[in-house]
Formats: sequence, structure tokens, C-alpha cells
Amino acid sequence: TAERGRGRYVMAIDQGTTSSRSILYDAAGQLVSIAQREHRQLYPAAGRVEHDAAEIRRHVAALVDRVIAKAGVAADQVVAIGIANQRETTVLWDRETGAPVGNAIVWQDTRTEDLVARLARRPEADEVVRRCGLPLLSYFAAPRVRWLLDRDERLRERAEKGSVLFGTMDSWLIWNLTGGPRGGVHVTDVTNAGRTMLMNLATLDWDDRLLDFFGIPRAMLPEIRSNAEVYGHTAAGIPIAAALGDQQAALFGQTCFAAGEAKCTYGTGSFLLTNTGTTPVRSTHGLLTTVAFQIDGEPARYALEGSMAATGTLVQWLRDRLGLIDAAPEIETLASTVEDNGGCYVVPAFSGLFAPRWRAEARGVIAGLTSYITKGHLARAVLEATAWQTREVVDAMNADTGYALTELRVDGGMTSNNLLMQQISDALGVPVERPLFSETVSLGAAYAAGLAVGLWPDMTGLRRNRRTASRWLPTMPDERRDREYRRWSRAAELTYNWNEPGE
Ligand code: G3P
Repeated sequence: TAERGRGRYVMAIDQGTTSSRSILYDAAGQLVSIAQREHRQLYPAAGRVEHDAAEIRRHVAALVDRVIAKAGVAADQVVAIGIANQRETTVLWDRETGAPVGNAIVWQDTRTEDLVARLARRPEADEVVRRCGLPLLSYFAAPRVRWLLDRDERLRERAEKGSVLFGTMDSWLIWNLTGGPRGGVHVTDVTNAGRTMLMNLATLDWDDRLLDFFGIPRAMLPEIRSNAEVYGHTAAGIPIAAALGDQQAALFGQTCFAAGEAKCTYGTGSFLLTNTGTTPVRSTHGLLTTVAFQIDGEPARYALEGSMAATGTLVQWLRDRLGLIDAAPEIETLASTVEDNGGCYVVPAFSGLFAPRWRAEARGVIAGLTSYITKGHLARAVLEATAWQTREVVDAMNADTGYALTELRVDGGMTSNNLLMQQISDALGVPVERPLFSETVSLGAAYAAGLAVGLWPDMTGLRRNRRTASRWLPTMPDERRDREYRRWSRAAELTYNWNEPGE
């Protein structure tokens, strides 16, 4: 291939839960090339989910080279790399050798539940929640670090000396990309640090009270930096100029720069974030207060987040465990064979319920079964489960912010399902809008990196890149919407306290 002139490009690395991808964008924000590789999901025991951090490091290193080669450009035409990553997944590694200490513990892993329940009973727990903006849950990173250090006295000693380091996937990748296993920079960004429970939401720095509470030594922690600034350079001299948690990256890629703008990314799990501006809004309705983004030198913007643990997972279950469909997109055809759910409701509490209910012990239900129900009804109820989960999160969001959401921007794999998009609009009673280009996670990381190195002068210009592809308007009569929502909510309550005490 002839080299593409002397154009300038920016690369995004999207290190997700199931795969890693590298994507090259040109200066107009258009996708030039993409490379992807899945990594193994390790399930060593019930409730445990792990990744091999060394495998992810290898994949990402190869993907960085591959996406440049595919595009036929020279490395020096890549002006910056931005990273978006699965959040809360926890890696420890040896500062000298760069070797990971055991496997990374993934955000879905619930092994710290007992530890978290114990910590929640301590009198300082309320103050902890106030400082970091997050409820005490096994979802976040700090309990995982504590769990690892508690099991190994020697590891704790090494952590106290700073010879074992902690990082989320952003830190791990930056460490490796900026100097190989032995000598990179040890940094993280405000969005990822904000998901550990160790960062103070007001100072945007590690907080001694939080470190004490979790018993985590400061010496093992990375330095917290903004989302858009140069952290270091790769061996080929490319600046690493952005890092954001993937959900915050999607918010940025959807150009939700102003307070009140919201997006939901529909994947295995789904994550709805609303930009709340420069002051953090404390949730009293089961949402998380989190940093949306911080551009170097500017005040941070905050967000409220509603995380749904199981959405696309439910469709995969229908495919892989029940065999009712052969491929995920077929669910739309199957669900379209019937007019409605026939009275059937599904609540996918596979690993408890996340926002806004936060019931770790909940287990899924299919309610309202009669001999009338066909697989078409079940498929419809499966899709509706995602719509009603979104509705619960939006209700909580409206109650917390004090204003009503007027429109929802969506992205992610599930948004190619037009029936689901209509169901979501019906469940919310507001328009749902899908952009023409739905690679929002990587686009957000590319935007932040491009801003950091001056490829783009400001955020206002980026808004003009956004094109709406499809828009769905609510069509369901209010009375029916209310009745359906009531029924689904009743089904959701049936998921509680399923296990007998002590199980
Ligand atoms: O909080 C977990 C989230 O960041 C994971 O996103 O897209 O990698 O599954 P994803």
C-alpha cells in the first residue's frame, strides 16, 4: 500500500472485558483501520472471574503494530494514543520484573462479598461512601486489593515497600507501553482511580482515610492524572495522551460534554451515565457518583452512573444455554413473531442486581409462565428486561438530578436491535437516538488523546462530527407502559433472598 500521504492519525486502544481492540482514526475523526483480539475468561470457581494480564499485554502490543500496518501509515504519523478500558479490574505486578502477581480479578468477580459486608458494618463506612461517592460493593477495586493482601503477608510487605504495584487496566497498559515490563510510568486517570473507592471525589487524589479503611499502602498506588495529557511515550516515540474508563470514554465519544446529556452503552452489561457538570451529585437513589472526565488544566466534570450487570448476557444465555437462537441478532426475528410478551417477564439477576437495587444475593426469575407462552414471548420478555432495567435507572437518575431526562443517546452491540431500541423508547417515554458511528468508546479515547496533543483545538469542534443515524419515538400508551412496568417490578422483587441463610 502506498503510504497515506503525510496525514496525521490518532490511535485508540479499547481494552474491554472480552476483547482488546486498536482503532486508528484520521484527523476528521473517521475510522481508518481496526484490529481486535479476544482473551480468555477464566472462571476458577463460582463467582470468580479472572483475566491473564500478561496475555492482555501481549495482545495489546501486537494490536498496536497491527492497526498501523493495516492502515499502511508510518508510526510517526500517529500523533497520540488514547486508552479506554474495562474498569475496576484489578492487577498487581512486580515493579522489578513487570510480572503480574497472579491473575487480574475482573469487575464481575464477587469473591469480596463477605469482606465488603464486614467492612460495611464498621462505623466509618458512611464517611467512606461520602468521600469516594460509591457504595460499599464488591464491584470496585479496593476490596480486591485488600483481599489479595490479606491472604499473603509477604505480598503485603512488598506492597508496603512499593515493590508490588497496583493498577487497573489503564495503568497496566501504560506501564507496559511506556518502557516495557521493567521501566514504565506508573499512572492512572481520574475516571479509573474514581472506581477504586480510594480516591476522594472532591480532591481527586488518594485519600488517607480511605487508604486506612481498606488497609492499602500508598506506595503501591499509581499517580492520578487527568484524562487528556501526555503520560509517556511508546518505544516508537508515540505519546500516550489519554486514558479513560470505557464508559466515560463512551460518554465523551457521544460528545455528552454538557450537564444533562446522557448516554447508555448496551453490551454484556449496560452503563447509563449522565453528565452532571462541575459539581458531583450525591445519589440517594442507588446510583454511583463518578468522574465523567477531566481535561488537563480544567475542572473535572462529574457524572451519575446506573450500571446494569446483565443485559446482553441474557441474550447470550438464550443462545448458548437454551439454544433458542443460533446467533444474537436472531432474537429480534424471534421476538417479532409475537405481538407482546404474553404475560411473561424475565429478570436477569445472574450475579445479583446492580443499579438501582444493588442486591448481591438476588437470583434471576422468569415470571408469569402459562402454557400459552411460546419461545417468541420469551424472546420478547428477554429484550424487555433490558428496557425495564434502563427505566429503573432513569427513574433513579431523574430523582437524583431533579430534572427529567429528555432523550437518551445509545451505543454498543445491542443497539443494532431495532425492536429493543423501540422497547427502550417505549419504556422511558422519551426519544432514543443512535449515532451513525457507534464506536463511541474508542472514539472517546481518540478524541481525548487528540485534544491533548492539539490535533483538535477544542471540544466544540468535535460535536460537529456527530451524526444521528436513527431515532425512535415512544408509541406505547401510558396506561399500558405503567402496567407493564409494575408487573416487571413485581417480578424483580421475586429475585430477592433466594438463597437460604448460610448458603
Ligand atoms: O464497569 C465495567 C465496565 O467498564 C466494563 O465494560 O464494555 O468492557 O464490558 P466492558
